[in-house]
Amino acid sequence: MYFKVNNLIKSLIAISLLFSLSEIVASEVNIYTSRHYDSDNLLYEDFTKATGIKVNIISGKGEALIERIKSEGKNSAADIFFTADAGNLWKLQKDGHFRSIISERIINAIPSNLRGPKNEWVGIAKRARVIFYHPERVSSDEVNNLSYEDLSSENWKGRIVVRSSNNIYNQSLVASLISNLGIEKTEKWAKGFVSNFARKPQGNDRSQILAVANGEADIAIANSYYYGLMLSGSAGQDQEDAAKKVKMLFPNQNNRGTHVNISGAGILKFSKNQKNAEVFLEFLLLPKVQEHIVNNTFEYPIIDEISPSPFISQFGISFLQDQTPASDFGKFNSDSIKLMDRAGWK
Ligand SMILES: [Fe+2]
Repeated sequence: MYFKVNNLIKSLIAISLLFSLSEIVASEVNIYTSRHYDSDNLLYEDFTKATGIKVNIISGKGEALIERIKSEGKNSAADIFFTADAGNLWKLQKDGHFRSIISERIINAIPSNLRGPKNEWVGIAKRARVIFYHPERVSSDEVNNLSYEDLSSENWKGRIVVRSSNNIYNQSLVASLISNLGIEKTEKWAKGFVSNFARKPQGNDRSQILAVANGEADIAIANSYYYGLMLSGSAGQDQEDAAKKVKMLFPNQNNRGTHVNISGAGILKFSKNQKNAEVFLEFLLLPKVQEHIVNNTFEYPIIDEISPSPFISQFGISFLQDQTPASDFGKFNSDSIKLMDRAGWK
């Protein structure tokens, strides 16, 4: 009898140990992220302090992480994929790699055009793809009510710089034009636009702003947050000086608004920590966390209570934003790539 009781106690202890072990294992969340901000590490630490949920990070380029998640399949440790551009999120969404987010706190906080069609992913912060121009070489008449569409006109011959067509930001911008104008009109536009390039596409978004500052071109398209980063001085004195020479402009203010994209995240189908993953996404939407994000990345907040960094908000926060569903940037991604190729956009 004693022996039996002893065994029972032993197995009870074993079970409870196992139980608490599984609780410990469950108190984590695995995030695959292509974001490269040191400031994100502080967020992860704060999240762990607030919830006790440990954050494990796998960083990499968006494309590489997408491939990794696909090839790991069921065995993937990933709970969350966190990246820039809805076009990237869509690449996992289209093959069913995400599960729908359930939390109403998340769904209610994010405008429907900045979520996946079935809430497979949500925006965490916004970025506008805007126009930068040199005020000494571009007249105020030329930029008055300027739209993306206008950039195909003869007036801009040899005056425009933009990065290459293999960049997702450009693919999503062109996809937004396809969504609004159709393929035929967008292709006609792209041909005119490409014929206005001051040079063969090269460099990143900041190189385009620098090219306008140093006189290589009069006008550039780039994401808004790079301008904040340059003006803040954290990218060095040269970039700060260059940024001060150019002006930022929100295109399409007299029609559908400026193209807006997101940094966003989704929870993976094979996530083993779905609850923790949702708690993490809820955390990212807290005002103090949003404030931390926008002050470090110079993006626009996804919630209205918070203002962007002063380096960006000084140019206005009430500009008209294109409401085209961000999922269209993915839906028309391959059309966009093919179209840019036909238009000779290198
Ligand atoms: Fe970027």
